[in-house]
Formats: sequence, structure tokens, C-alpha cells
Amino acid sequence: MKRIAVLTSGGDAPGMNAAIRAVTRTAIDAGIDVFGVHQGYQGLIDGDMAFLTRRDVGGIMQSGGTVLGSARCPAFETVAGREVAIRNMAEREIEALVVIGGNGSQTGSHALSQMGFPVVGVASTIDNDLEGSDVTIGVDSAINVALEAIDRLKVTAESHRRAFLVEVMGRHCGYVALMAGIAGGAEVVVIPEQEVSPENVAQQLRAAYDRGKQHAMVVVAEGAKNNAERLVEHFQTDPEATGFRLRVTILGHVQRGANPTAADRLLGTRLGEGAVRALQAGQTGVLAGLRGNRVLTTPLEEIVGRQKPIDLELFELANIMAR
Ligand code: F6P
Repeated sequence: MKRIAVLTSGGDAPGMNAAIRAVTRTAIDAGIDVFGVHQGYQGLIDGDMAFLTRRDVGGIMQSGGTVLGSARCPAFETVAGREVAIRNMAEREIEALVVIGGNGSQTGSHALSQMGFPVVGVASTIDNDLEGSDVTIGVDSAINVALEAIDRLKVTAESHRRAFLVEVMGRHCGYVALMAGIAGGAEVVVIPEQEVSPENVAQQLRAAYDRGKQHAMVVVAEGAKNNAERLVEHFQTDPEATGFRLRVTILGHVQRGANPTAADRLLGTRLGEGAVRALQAGQTGVLAGLRGNRVLTTPLEEIVGRQKPIDLELFELANIMAR
């Protein structure tokens, strides 16, 4: 193998730059040229890509986001779009592709590999909902941003004897909410995998109030049926239900823009290297992920269309800690 390409796709995640750097330097070390593709799959379709040198990927590891740019690309969902992408890579004698991204991105890489093009994915999403990796690039940084916000909100909540409702990212998955909730000492955690009714949230807050708590924290995943908007709507109809005065903070994309934590830099570096090693070993149509603290590959067909389930024992743990 003489030449590969690398791209980042879908929602950016802190640690993606470490993965780009590791793919590039591992490949160059093995005598393989690397093309960096701009703006995800869109760059493959537009032919927007350029060689990367070791120096091009210097000084990027400590920054969030992705130096290659990222996008969600509906054109790549069509066979015609993928054929253009394959043609553009063939013209540049690119023999294989590394795709750094989450669920949607790995669905794209699977479709490409089904058309005979060699692809290896790298597990990267702040949602940590991808099968094939115990943790994904970006989730640790996102949890830490949420946690910092929770800690700060607790300070003001305590001063004013208020309850705070903090909504964190996770369109379909409550992992960030659950982990930040446990680490932040939340009274209630609301996630899509284990819905809690507004009445139940109110009850738990009321119980905390009756136990003499000076403040309370509810951490909600954006994808929960009873997200922040719904809960606020509900509490407006009965402001006395919780005992506390309530304030709401929706963190949104601020969680994606963090500088990567050490854990995400290390994970990006290990998985980026792992993806190149997998290609060198002749593997294709697989995802490089971390399982049991080892970099291992999983066939993409076992991953696409699935969501890694959350460990509900941790949800119980959050509840026990809140009492
Ligand atoms: O996939 C990660 C994620 O951050 C989700 O948690 C969130 O709902 C979504 O991306 C937001 O995506 P966009 O960048 O398209 O707004």
C-alpha cells in the first residue's frame, strides 16, 4: 500500500486532531503517503484533498475540532455520490480511506467498503453510542465540559437555594448526561434510555427539598422525551411542585468545542495508529475501537444501524447517590 486518505465526518469531537496526526505520522513512518480530505465525505465528492506532511499535523493535538473540517453529507448516501468519491480517489491513486467519525459516518464507510473500496473507521463521537468501542473519541472532553458547568451552577444554586436543570448533548443517547450526572452529584438524571416523567422529577426534587437540601441539580439529555423544554413547560403549570425555584441552562454545542482531555488525545492517537495498522494487515470494512483497553477492530456490518446500549446499573447508581 502506497497511498491512503483520511477524513473526519459528522459532529466534530475533541481528539479528532490527535487521530488525524496519528494516522498521518504512522502512515508516513511506514512509507505510505497520506491525503487529508476536507469537509468529510463532501471533500471526497468535490475532490477537495491535499497531501499531509508530518509537519502539517504538528501543533494540532491540543485543539478541539478538526483541522480537516467536517460535514454531514447527504450526497454520499447515494450510490452515484459514492461512485464520484471512488473515482476521485482512484485518479489520485489512493488505495484506502480512514474515516474518523460516529454512527452516521461509519454507515457511510460501510457503504463505501460494500462497493469494494478499502476503508477502516475510527470510533469518534461525543455521544459514545457507537458499538465496537467502549469509549469513543471526544466523550471524555464533552463530559468534562458538562461537569465544569454543573459545578459552577451548583455554586450559584446553593447561594440562592435553587434547583437547576442542565440539558446536555445526546440526540439519541444519555451517556454524557448519565456520566456528568453521576460525577456532578445530580439529584435527578433524565435520559432517553430510561424515561422519567415530569411528575417523577418533581417528586424527586420535592424529596430532596424535604430532606433539607439547599439546592438541587437535574441533568437532562437533549434526546429525552422530557427534555429541558418539556420539563420547564410542565413545572410552569405547577411551580410549587418541586419546592425549589427553578432555572434552566442548555449547554448545546459548547460541549463539542473543548480542548481535548489527556484521555481523548491518547485515545485519538491509539485509534489513529490502530486504523493504519489494520489497513497494513489487509483489513477493510472494520472499525478501530478500544475494547478492554486494547485497540481492536470490529466489522462495520456489526456496527451500522445499531446504538451501543447504556449500562442501566449506572442509572441505578446515580439514583442511589442522589438519596
Ligand atoms: O453526534 C453528536 C451530537 O453532538 C449530538 O449529541 C447532537 O444532537 C448532534 O451531534 C448535533 O449535531 P449538529 O452539529 O448537526 O447540530
